[in-house]
Amino acid sequence: MITAVVYSESGGTYKTTMTANLAVALERMGQNTLVIDLDPQEGNLTSLFDAGSRRSDPDADNLVKHVLDMPDGEFRDLIETTAEGVDIVPSHDMLGDFTSNLEQKISYEIGMKNMSREEYPRFELLYDLLWEREELYEEYDAVLIDPNARAEDLLYNAIFALRTLIAPVKPAGKGNLSLEGLEELVGNMERQLDIEIGLSCVVPSGVGQTNAHRQYRDRFESTESFATPVTIGNRESLMDAMWEARGSAFKVIEERWKTFERDGEMVSEPGQRRVRDREVETLRKLFELARFVATETFEAEVDPVLELEIQGYGNRTIDLRDVATTGATV
Ligand SMILES: Nc1ncnc2c1ncn2[C@@H]1O[C@H](COP(=O)(O)OP(=O)(O)O)[C@@H](O)[C@H]1O
Ligand SMILES: [Mg+2]
Repeated sequence: MITAVVYSESGGTYKTTMTANLAVALERMGQNTLVIDLDPQEGNLTSLFDAGSRRSDPDADNLVKHVLDMPDGEFRDLIETTAEGVDIVPSHDMLGDFTSNLEQKISYEIGMKNMSREEYPRFELLYDLLWEREELYEEYDAVLIDPNARAEDLLYNAIFALRTLIAPVKPAGKGNLSLEGLEELVGNMERQLDIEIGLSCVVPSGVGQTNAHRQYRDRFESTESFATPVTIGNRESLMDAMWEARGSAFKVIEERWKTFERDGEMVSEPGQRRVRDREVETLRKLFELARFVATETFEAEVDPVLELEIQGYGNRTIDLRDVATTGATV
């Protein structure tokens, strides 16, 4: 089974974008895929996929209630299926209060069980829910989590449950620093949680054509410390259109979503975007990344052929077994 937390210490490193695109790529490779959104803030995976209509309703059953083992219904009823076939456990505002709710539960339970606060397995709750109570491996081939980097308890629960990280990084000083922090964080977590955490790969994203960016990319691609199967270029227009298409970059290109000005107003519509080779190449890279994670990290067998049905342009086939012709472009 493929299980990974898309992790990055700093915000805005394209985590949510990466999670959505990876999930759809895995789904299109024949993997039944579930994503779990642990970020309660605006602009999260739930809103990207147009899910979670009851995320602000305090009475609605939600993931926090299940993680704390006080559900208001069936876990399966939390799961929604997105237009692209990926399933999602949507975010809920209660995720923002997770730690205080958890502390209350711990206080209550240690009082009942005569144990110390330190002994309480506070990072094992999501693991117990996903694998022991709900046995999600029976139904899914892949589970991805988009965590909230700030919320330690939730992040640690995510990593304890899934054990593998995929790390998107951004060029320039900040991306650099977040990567150094990554190794330290993995080491700390392994010691603290007494588990092994694997780093599947690092994905430099938003890499432009400047010399500085090219050097940055070369440095990442030549390092032995971790795998860098692909580099994603600066694709602001494509990735921003995902928020209008309410789906992946695959959907943006296939339905040809574009944001443009009409009569002094910005509008977004399908059927408008030009088909650009470099954007199709980006889909190939996302698909390649998904294949790397599936086959190299998890030894799963996946379909290496991507059939794109581009509205008004007919079909285009991307076969990862063909040698990439433009592999070096970003
Ligand atoms: N490869 C890319 N190049 C340029 N901009 C991107 C790229 N990927 C994503 N973006 C844009 O960057 C912004 C932040 O991305 P997001 O995935 O929400 O980051 P995070 O979840 O890490 O905060 C979004 O507007 C998104 O469209
Ligand atoms: Mg995000």
